[in-house]
Amino acid sequence: YRGTDVRETKLSRQHMWEENQLNKAVIKENLDEVNLPDADKYDFVFDDDAMIDYEDNEEVMPEKDSEYDNHLIERLQKEQDRITSIQEMRKLLPVYSYRNALLEAIREHQTLIVVGETGSGKTTQLPQYLLEDGYTKGGKLRIAVTQPRRVAATAVAARVADEMDVVLGKEVGYSIRFEDKTTEGKTVLKYMTDGMLLREFLEDPELKKYSCIMIDEAHERTLATDILLGLLKDILPHRKDLKLVISSATMNATKFSRFFNNCPIFNVPGRRYPVDIRYTVQPEANYIHAAISTVLQIHTKEPLPGDILVFLTGQEEIESIKEKMEQITEKMGSTIAPLIITPIYANLPQEQQNEIFIPTPHNCRKVVLATNIAETSLTIDGIKYVVDPGYVKENSFVPSTGMTQLLTVPCSRASVDQRAGRAGRVGPGKCFRIFTKWSYYNELELMPKPEIVRTNLSHTVLLLLSLGITDLINFPMLDKPSISSLSKSLENLYLLGALNSKGSITRLGRIMCEFPCEPEYAKVLHTSATHDSCRGVLDECISIVAMLHETKSLFLGQKSHPGSHIVGQVDSDHMLYLEIYNEWRNYNYSRIWCQDHKIQYKTLCRVRNIRDQLFKCADKLGLVAVNETVRREMVDPSSHLAAKITKCFISGFPMNVAQLGTTGYRTVGKKSTSGLNVYVHPSSVVFHQTRDAKKPSKHVLYQQLMLTSKEFIRDCLPIHKESWLGEMVPQLFNFSKKS
Ligand code: CDP
Ligand code: MG
Repeated sequence: YRGTDVRETKLSRQHMWEENQLNKAVIKENLDEVNLPDADKYDFVFDDDAMIDYEDNEEVMPEKDSEYDNHLIERLQKEQDRITSIQEMRKLLPVYSYRNALLEAIREHQTLIVVGETGSGKTTQLPQYLLEDGYTKGGKLRIAVTQPRRVAATAVAARVADEMDVVLGKEVGYSIRFEDKTTEGKTVLKYMTDGMLLREFLEDPELKKYSCIMIDEAHERTLATDILLGLLKDILPHRKDLKLVISSATMNATKFSRFFNNCPIFNVPGRRYPVDIRYTVQPEANYIHAAISTVLQIHTKEPLPGDILVFLTGQEEIESIKEKMEQITEKMGSTIAPLIITPIYANLPQEQQNEIFIPTPHNCRKVVLATNIAETSLTIDGIKYVVDPGYVKENSFVPSTGMTQLLTVPCSRASVDQRAGRAGRVGPGKCFRIFTKWSYYNELELMPKPEIVRTNLSHTVLLLLSLGITDLINFPMLDKPSISSLSKSLENLYLLGALNSKGSITRLGRIMCEFPCEPEYAKVLHTSATHDSCRGVLDECISIVAMLHETKSLFLGQKSHPGSHIVGQVDSDHMLYLEIYNEWRNYNYSRIWCQDHKIQYKTLCRVRNIRDQLFKCADKLGLVAVNETVRREMVDPSSHLAAKITKCFISGFPMNVAQLGTTGYRTVGKKSTSGLNVYVHPSSVVFHQTRDAKKPSKHVLYQQLMLTSKEFIRDCLPIHKESWLGEMVPQLFNFSKKS
């Protein structure tokens, strides 16, 4: 199973590092967060010792020219300063020369696969061509374009609205979870995450509102994209007038074609300049340091202009590297040219996202610190250098334990090649790989694993069941998930009460589908309004659930312990989040209050918005009314609040419970053997309690399990009474009967 494969690969790389790093400091392989001690932070000096050795004999990723008229890019470059009209820009993109041929192919075939180099104009141009060709029937029908990532959906919609000179949210809009920027009856071109289109199937199983669907970035093979392709394959024969365009970077195209009865593949030839690939001579123990050094090496040694793109695994890593680089460049002062450091990741506030697209001023260099969002979804002009440590963060579900882990794993060869290609868009480029040539040829897998074979399928299974698709085994899929993973999700859904013992969807299961959040959270909310022993806390649970969706970007800065005035009063992260939200509300949603407490104002505004949506949904389902009745009967709503909330979360996340043993916490599942040793993350309130020598609770519920240097559990909630487990989920925790 992939989960173990990955670890083995990682371990063997680690082993190599260790072998080769005898003279270097202790291996610090805290890949997820760069919690380097302060001294280390300030000691990092960029000098000859810090230089990373790269092999001299570089490989060259060859130029790609084909039949494409390569004068276009050159003209684009020469005229870039001169071109003022965005319409002229559109005509210079590679897809433009194929506009008519593409439209003809789409007219002729119901399904078409479009393959082209990143940046050739597939995402921004193709939907506009369809619009211009009259597919929306004067506004009666719509065109949907799906994206695997939220950031891509919003950024591209904004760009296209610009190109069409319309206000974003009117003719052109986007829809991502908890944020709908479209106008009913007006929006004809809708960019959306693949997950949102999946939800639309619930209300409109034949997608009657749409005349064209473009599944973009299909090569990413997210779970939602794979399921969409299966559902679309199902409805195409009944909807002869519906056009399906599947667009993909260069990998995987024939697989899609085979899946859709050998439908044609349209190749948009693109130009790519040669890219020199450099590998490190030795494996590097600390890729974070190596990446920083490499960026500075490039900056001081390579000529201007030429921006740098660094591929990192996540927000925390990006923010901490940014902070560190700022300190170093500040120290180096005017001895180096100005370096503009811009991050890009999914949770970055919109205004900051746009910064990556601002052209770099002369005599400066821009370094973009990106997650693999910049691999294919977003094209940043002006990149000449790519720095690639070769890692990516992946969800990984282990059916035997029923647990999902977030792992930092080595990328596939296809991914690192795609990343290198990003350096050759505007001219010859260079790619610095922070791993060895040996590792590339011997350790990296060829292709990334599709999400469907490595993730928890519960949500998807529930959605398919509610769409009436009961034969899951024969549902058309590009790659089939394992039987064990399917049956684990059925078991999980049964445990939540979404399915009955015959495997059919229950009334509760349908309610869970209605909520715009994971079924587990929906179960928490349902319990909080209706369960005999803990109802009346719906409002509080909605706040906590909304906060849990945004915890990644809640606090400002890396290490400051936020909300510290509250920390002392609560004993769980859940209650901390609730208190933070309530206090902010009491201060009239104040921006100043956020600044004072080092909390991101924008994030809390998003939480407020999510809260509103969850509340509306609960209201629609009648849960709010039920909750209010109970609340009026309660003598003191604040009594037993924490206990009730804990019970609600147990009902939604019975699988996420760890039990204290002789060696610390161990996860509990159906079988006692399936446990895994886990550690409370230092960012958790519960961590501080154990450190302050309070007696740790025998059981703890967690929202996230991350595998980095250790198995960390985050967002933790102590369970003070063992009997609550058996009370809420007797099917799983029958041991409580004994006590
Ligand atoms: O989808 P594909 O990778 O083929 O290309 P695209 O995303 O449609 O991008 C086409 C062009 O639009 C690129 O040259 C980008 O630089 C530009 N673009 C932009 O300037 N700003 C955006 N937010 C998106 C695209
Ligand atoms: Mg694209």
